[in-house]
Amino acid sequence: PRCIYLSRHGESIYNLEKKIGGDSSLSPRGLKYAEKLPELVKQDAGDVDLTVWTSTLIRTQETAQYLPYKQLQWKALDELDAGVCDGMTYEEIEKEFPEDFRARDENKYEYRYRGGESYRDVVIRLEPIIMELERQENILIITHQAVLRCIYAYFMNVPQEESPWVAIPLHTLIKLEPRAYGTKVTLIKADI
Ligand code: F6P
Repeated sequence: PRCIYLSRHGESIYNLEKKIGGDSSLSPRGLKYAEKLPELVKQDAGDVDLTVWTSTLIRTQETAQYLPYKQLQWKALDELDAGVCDGMTYEEIEKEFPEDFRARDENKYEYRYRGGESYRDVVIRLEPIIMELERQENILIITHQAVLRCIYAYFMNVPQEESPWVAIPLHTLIKLEPRAYGTKVTLIKADI
């Protein structure tokens, strides 16, 4: 039976600096996860052939770089666009755009960053990805927190409005096995 593996990219320099968005590289720890990932996948998937889907951002490609599978980049897998807040910390956003900060807290699913996107926007742009996933065999997706929340919510039947609060741990491979009665989830943690 087919399965879908999901992973966030390894820890990035921006993650360390608590900045959102951007296109930074992996931190040394994030790179360790990238090095560990082929073994983590192989331990679970064995010799099954996978296709790796990444976003067009550097941190997902660095995370995928040691995987011995065919790779495909999708712009639709890029992180939620934070518009004018791209590259800021949450603290800076709260100071500079206090009303936006509050509005987002009140309705995180609908809130659209100025010049950027909302979770709802991401759900809509993920439609072709979801359709393609339904047709494909075994896929490993390496992408970003907000995007993974939406994909995870779709397969786990979590209402999309709740997707902004789904926890997607770092440095953990998530295995989804869609079944007639629901999707089975297994978390495979990398100890790094
Ligand atoms: O901090 C990492 C990150 O992927 C940001 O790039 C993105 O804006 C954010 O997480 C999404 O999480 P939240 O919707 O909780 O702000």
